[in-house]
Amino acid sequence: MQYQPLKYIYKPSHVKDAPTLLLLHGTGGDENDLLALANYFGEGLNVLSLRGNVSEQGMPRFFKRLGMGIFDEADLTFRTHEMIAFLKELAVKENFNVNKIIALGYSNGANIAGSALYLYPGFFAGVILYRPMQPFKVLPAVTGDQTTRIFASNGLQDPTINPEATKAYIQQMENDGWPVEHHHLEAGHNLTREDLELSVIWHQRYFDNGTV
Ligand code: MLT
Repeated sequence: MQYQPLKYIYKPSHVKDAPTLLLLHGTGGDENDLLALANYFGEGLNVLSLRGNVSEQGMPRFFKRLGMGIFDEADLTFRTHEMIAFLKELAVKENFNVNKIIALGYSNGANIAGSALYLYPGFFAGVILYRPMQPFKVLPAVTGDQTTRIFASNGLQDPTINPEATKAYIQQMENDGWPVEHHHLEAGHNLTREDLELSVIWHQRYFDNGTV
């Protein structure tokens, strides 16, 4: 299968060589869904929002699944390569620094971001994972650097994700060398203000001083 371009919205920052906040929606969302969140992360960021190339009964997703929480890992691998190749091309076309991307993913978007962490270690400067699930049943051995900073938050009342599974996923990322800030929130699958506030504080702590 050939790689296909992804639909996107790109809003350049007025700041020279700014980092880019990459927004990755959940199932049924699109490139408009998470745009409003970008405003909370400050003015000095380019904003890039993608629409997944997969349609599940008309609902956009970033990769196929075989059932609730059962991922088509071959498609996830292909779509991750497709997305990374697209980001590298788009960085040239839209003139942003491909080494200064902070990915923010929600649910299905968090899961392709998690897949990219393992398949392309060091590609993202930072990753924010809202309601993530482990992308592969057996995570690939990590080669390369684990400098990417990770924020993750899950909902203790999330009906679609077992908190114990999230805990195991986070533990694996830490064992693999990534610095992870993780929060178990009194929440379901939907995003809450607390997810946003905690991730903005994390972003300010590690990226606001232009360290990306
Ligand atoms: C979803 O409904 O999107 C699942 O919770 C996560 C996924 O399929 O990636």
